[in-house]
Amino acid sequence: MKKNIVVLISGRGSNLQSIISAAKDKDYPAAVSLVISDNSKAQGLYIAKNNSIDNVIIEKSSFDSNDKFEEDLIKNIIQYDPSLICLAGFMKILSKNFVEKFMGKIINIHPSLLPKYKGLNTHQKAINSGDKYSGCTVHYVNNKMDDGEIIAQQEVIIATDETVETLKEKVLDLEHKLYPKVIKALLS
Ligand code: GRF
Repeated sequence: MKKNIVVLISGRGSNLQSIISAAKDKDYPAAVSLVISDNSKAQGLYIAKNNSIDNVIIEKSSFDSNDKFEEDLIKNIIQYDPSLICLAGFMKILSKNFVEKFMGKIINIHPSLLPKYKGLNTHQKAINSGDKYSGCTVHYVNNKMDDGEIIAQQEVIIATDETVETLKEKVLDLEHKLYPKVIKALLS
């Protein structure tokens, strides 16, 4: 019996797609049971629909407070009793209360070698700093941005003629391999 994963997205959903594709293997220990988007226009919602995966839009603007928004997230998530909650391009910082409720079960992927370059524009920052390597990180989530314990990282060389676009593409390619691999390792 496969374990349940809930994936939280805000946009494109290419990491969601990579997890869904990997999970199609019969030996993969988990399946994506629910996709939650906090953005009704997220392209990733189509990926969920095309794969007949339950999906729900929960937008913060529909609630009076962040607490109420998170209460609704929690209500939806617990129905699926997930072994893991995977943030994949989810653009909200979760509260201490939320994180403690699912302690050790929330992970995120970030396009830099954390603790370097939290937040946005990671590729620009790596190039501007003259770094020789960039990469991606899968980490546990706490209530600070891109901050929890690191689980795994994958490096890529930054070429001398690297641009933000080429680096973004290289790192995204790594993300699509690393995230499903880490999920598999955690749940096997
Ligand atoms: C990825 O680069 C991920 O590392 C970051 O946001 C981006 C999401 O892309 N957290 P996608 O929605 O998975 O295509």
